[in-house]
Amino acid sequence: MTRLIIAVDGPAAAGKGTLAKALAASLNLPYLDTGLLYRAVARQMLLKNLDPVTESGEEAARNLQPQDLLRQDLRVPEIDRAASTVATQPLVRTALLQRQRDFAAATGGVVDGRDIGTVVFPQADVKLFVTASARTRALRRHCQLHGDATLSDVALQRLIEEIEARDQKDASRAVSPLRRAEGAILLETDDLDAGAVLQKALSIVRNR
Ligand code: CDP
Repeated sequence: MTRLIIAVDGPAAAGKGTLAKALAASLNLPYLDTGLLYRAVARQMLLKNLDPVTESGEEAARNLQPQDLLRQDLRVPEIDRAASTVATQPLVRTALLQRQRDFAAATGGVVDGRDIGTVVFPQADVKLFVTASARTRALRRHCQLHGDATLSDVALQRLIEEIEARDQKDASRAVSPLRRAEGAILLETDDLDAGAVLQKALSIVRNR
C-alpha cells in the first residue's frame, strides 16, 4: 500500500480543498480537510456559548467527535471568523495535531490546511502551496457557496476584505502561522481552472 503524504497549504479559499480532493481521488489516497477540524471546534464552542476570543477551545478540541465534522453549518461566515480565532490557540492546535498525524500515518493521504508542510507533516513527500489573488479567491468562495448567483461590487469588496482579514490572522499568529514550507512548490492559480491546477499538481507528484 502506498504511504505517500501530500501536503496542500495556502490562504483562505485558494482552492486547496478542490485540488486536494481531486488529487486524492486520482491517486487513490485518503483526503483530510484539516480546516474542518478547526471549524468544528469553533462550532462546538459557539453551541456552548463560549467566546473563541476569550475562552479556551482545548476541551472542545479534545472532545471532538466524528459526527461534529459532518454538520452542515461549518462553512458560514460566522465560523470562518471563529475558526481562525480558535486556530490561534496553541492548546487547540496541540490537541488536534496527533489526530491529523494519525489520520495519514498508516495509509498516506492528501492533507490540506495552513501548517501541513511546516508542522503537521514536515517530511511530506510532496508539498504544494496553492494561492491566488484575494479577488479571485473571493469570487471562488462566492461561487462555491452560491453557484452563479450575481455578486454586487459592494458584496465582492466585503468578501475580499473578510478573506484578507483571515489571511492576516492566519499568517500573523505566533503558533504555526500560514507560510510556504521549505520545499513547497508554489501553485499560482489565478489563471488556471480546477482541472488545470490538478494536472499541474499531478505532474509535480509524478516528477517528485
Ligand atoms: O476553506 P478555507 O480556506 O476558507 O478555510 P479552512 O481550510 O476550512 O480553514 C478554516 C480556518 O482554520 C483557517 O482560517 C485557519 O485559521 C484554520 N486552519 C489552521 O489554522 N490550520 C489548518 N491546518 C487548517 C485550518
